[in-house]
Amino acid sequence: MKKLKKEAEALLIEAIGKSFPNIQGELNIFDMLEYPPDTSMGDLALPCFKLSKVLRSSPVKIAEMLSENIESGSFSDITAVNGYLNFRMNASVFAKRVVDDICAQGENYGSPMNGDGKTVVLDYSSPNVAKPFHIGHLGTTVIGHSLKLLHEFAGYKCVGINHLGDWGTQFGKLITAYKRWGNKDEVENGGIDELVRLYVLFHTEAEKDEALNDEARKEFSKLENNDEENLLLWRWFIDISIAEYKKTYRLLNIEFDSYNGESFYTDKMPAQIQVMKDKELLTIDDGASVVNLEEWNMPPCLILKRDGSTLYPTRDIAAAVYRKNTYDFEKCIYVTSAGQSLHFAQWFKVVELMGYPWADKLVHVPYGTVSINGAKLATRTGNVILLKDLFAQAIEKVKAITAEKNPALAERDDIAEAVGVGAIVFHYLSNNRMRDINFILEDALSFDGNTGPYAQYTYARTCSILEKSADEGEICGGEICEEEKELAKALALFPDSVSEAIAQYEPSLITRYILDLCAAFNRFYHNCQILSCEDESVKRQRIKLTACVRQVLGKSLELICMKKTEKI
Ligand code: ARG
Repeated sequence: MKKLKKEAEALLIEAIGKSFPNIQGELNIFDMLEYPPDTSMGDLALPCFKLSKVLRSSPVKIAEMLSENIESGSFSDITAVNGYLNFRMNASVFAKRVVDDICAQGENYGSPMNGDGKTVVLDYSSPNVAKPFHIGHLGTTVIGHSLKLLHEFAGYKCVGINHLGDWGTQFGKLITAYKRWGNKDEVENGGIDELVRLYVLFHTEAEKDEALNDEARKEFSKLENNDEENLLLWRWFIDISIAEYKKTYRLLNIEFDSYNGESFYTDKMPAQIQVMKDKELLTIDDGASVVNLEEWNMPPCLILKRDGSTLYPTRDIAAAVYRKNTYDFEKCIYVTSAGQSLHFAQWFKVVELMGYPWADKLVHVPYGTVSINGAKLATRTGNVILLKDLFAQAIEKVKAITAEKNPALAERDDIAEAVGVGAIVFHYLSNNRMRDINFILEDALSFDGNTGPYAQYTYARTCSILEKSADEGEICGGEICEEEKELAKALALFPDSVSEAIAQYEPSLITRYILDLCAAFNRFYHNCQILSCEDESVKRQRIKLTACVRQVLGKSLELICMKKTEKI
């Protein structure tokens, strides 16, 4: 649709020049143009009140003058109505243009192509080893990965980093619990569940016996001092955890380029602490070293504890410097819950104060909280829903639904996996990321609402039509009906949605786009004959439009980490 706007803008600039020759200065006409929600008046509109001030005239008058002086270009008509200038496009010309673009650009259709091979680092998912990988991580995992896919689509080189929480006092606790109550076989068979069981057991036992906490501190300090046995245990716990995370990632088609977690930066922090000292940024506060951020209305950023040990921000600062040196990123994006916004704002400021000129290339992308069926998550009380359990539940439910709907379906397991997991992703990404959401599994899995299954079903429908069709179809620029026109418009909006999703770090714009495209396609499907159409050229035109929907819908689904399925 951008092309259409660009054309309208060019025509308007000329018309304004003719109608109001004395006006000086730049007018941002492009951004003033709107897509009216009700298209009965036109496909594009200029609300002329936006020009009243500059042109010193009433909206009604402006609309009328412009309508007299404007050339029609490829629009079929341009009319003034109540202070609006309404553009109606020549639907056939427009539809042909859109379809030709899609065919010419193929898989690249919709890409803003502005990445130019520059590098974007994305830090996402990043669970804490030995603590559950729960539904609270769904946001960082799918928002992070969609942003990676969107940037890749735009031509950036992307590096996905899983900044594992693989260091800290929790390992002292886990090692203590393992040595006391665990054994090799049980950990090997039970995986993360067994690690979490041991970790929880430690906490219940420590409530009864204070001395356990001292024991855990000792184990951690042995680990810090490279005690061989503890190092082996620690590495083993991490490997087991990663192997299990990977099972969940596989369901989402996610692969990371690096699993360098917090521990990786241990030997990289002293150099950065030295920079802070050289710049005289550190002050001592109750024995701890901090960077005072009062001037920026933030609490101090903690760099070293009283005992000299480092903290979460210290590691993030060292990691950012390492990433800049290693990848020379254009942007480094961090996706975490909004609860960490202050943490990121603080250490981004410290990086700036340290004098690193790339501090403004660090981007924090926050998101809201998730509850399930109204219940908030609470790790302490054990009220956690593991991501893998949520996916497994969804997959089982979809299996049951498809068994009823389509008993003859082959490959049911693969399809149920794609649809079940996709349903959760889609449901999650239907909302603006900052919104707190309440997750209701039944809603996510419904085949009727605005859901993932509905989108995948629509995609499968395009595949089945095309499979039955003898040729690829063609669009010649002949007459088109209202449904075809609306479908062409929906197809034309794809590039706009991609650009906006990247600009706002908001994958939900793609989800919403998918729903609009599906709605337009299903209206077309129900009201127009496609394969059974008797007029051969109309039939071929409709087949071509269907092929374009398959391509664009397929790409859109991929961009929000959903798997496509040709059958349901
Ligand atoms: N492990 C952290 C958590 O679960 C998230 C890490 C985010 N990334 C970062 N570089 N701080 O809360």
